[in-house]
Amino acid sequence: MTTAARKLDAEQRPAPIGGGLDVARVRADFPILQQRVHGKPLVYLDNAATSQKPRAVIDAIVRYYEGSNANIHRGVHYLSEIATKDYEAARRTAQEFINAPHAHEIIFVRGATEGINLVAQTFGRARVQPGDEVLITAMEHHSNIVPWQILCDEKGAKLRVAPINDQGELLLDEFAKLLGRRTKLAAVTHVSNALGTINPLKRMIELAHAHGVPVAVDGAQAVPHMKVDVQALDCDFYTFSGHKVYGPTGIGVLYGKSALLEAMPPYQGGGDMISSVTFEKTSYNKLPYKFEAGTPDIAGVIGLGAALTYVNGLGIGNIGAHEHDLLVYATQVVSAIPGVRLIGTAKEKAGVLSFVIEGVHPHDIGTILDQEGIAIRTGHHCSQPLMDRFGIPATARASFAAYNTREEVDALVRGIGKVREVFA
Ligand code: ALA
Repeated sequence: MTTAARKLDAEQRPAPIGGGLDVARVRADFPILQQRVHGKPLVYLDNAATSQKPRAVIDAIVRYYEGSNANIHRGVHYLSEIATKDYEAARRTAQEFINAPHAHEIIFVRGATEGINLVAQTFGRARVQPGDEVLITAMEHHSNIVPWQILCDEKGAKLRVAPINDQGELLLDEFAKLLGRRTKLAAVTHVSNALGTINPLKRMIELAHAHGVPVAVDGAQAVPHMKVDVQALDCDFYTFSGHKVYGPTGIGVLYGKSALLEAMPPYQGGGDMISSVTFEKTSYNKLPYKFEAGTPDIAGVIGLGAALTYVNGLGIGNIGAHEHDLLVYATQVVSAIPGVRLIGTAKEKAGVLSFVIEGVHPHDIGTILDQEGIAIRTGHHCSQPLMDRFGIPATARASFAAYNTREEVDALVRGIGKVREVFA
């Protein structure tokens, strides 16, 4: 144990907040967590990149392939009917999960990135004209920057960026000032992947709507950690990835308000998104199928449904409380280590701890920690403009999930101690 961790032993350590999770039982649900890496127990702290998958999700995918694999919406045969029923049941699970008013407002996409690109290329393309503006924030992931740059380049529009303070919090007044006559859309993250900042989303949406500006939300880092209610938020679009919320990779959800989705042109053409085709004219299928061209990732959707059901079983509130406890604890013990600087110290944060160590490149931190069996992410986290804002090329980032423990945070502290010894 490092001196820093020892100093924070016993009475100095914050008391666990709890959160109603039986973490040992949660851990037992995740087969991958039982392994050792480089001879050490795996400490998986790279959950903002992707979370691990519980047995329930793995089994649901295996069950589909072993017992009901067939194409959906097309066959009258038994297997196709089962597959269709399971696929559409997952849509209703996703609908309830984010409290969308209608199941047809849930569009299955490959992930948050595809959700954002879909909105940019359909809604955005129709709405944004030369001289218009699209408003984002300084803490966006590249996936919520580049699709808007592509759109703005094509349309001769301008990308405006709302600034943040040194803690990594949005300057709400500046955001409000940037909403103007020319603003056609605001595209904002709910939670920053690199900093953990939770944005005051409801207020941002109110401000935007007061200017008649629709809001598209990147919820990739929020949905796994907190209750998201798209009706309470009144957002126009909300997208998230399955793989960060214990589901499979390659599947995600785009929610959009019915009236907007109805008015939007399709994103991709192909099978299942049409109601009739002639060489002269094609009419499109109703929602949500208009936006789901081609055979979808059926197993992925079923796996995502199983993941959301699993989260419901644990309780998203319990998960959030547990992760908050880990964040508070980790913030205290990691920031006490000499030479460590936290990047992102917003008052409202999800379970992300980004840090740098004086004189050590984050990649070296990651490599040494890996030798200790500890998985974190190092780099710019697909947020290069945000790194520029803090004047750094990269950070080391530990990010928490339902199965992480305070003991794993202690392992991280010991690992950082090793890094400091190597670079002393
Ligand atoms: N967007 C993911 C991350 O933050 C990959 O690591």
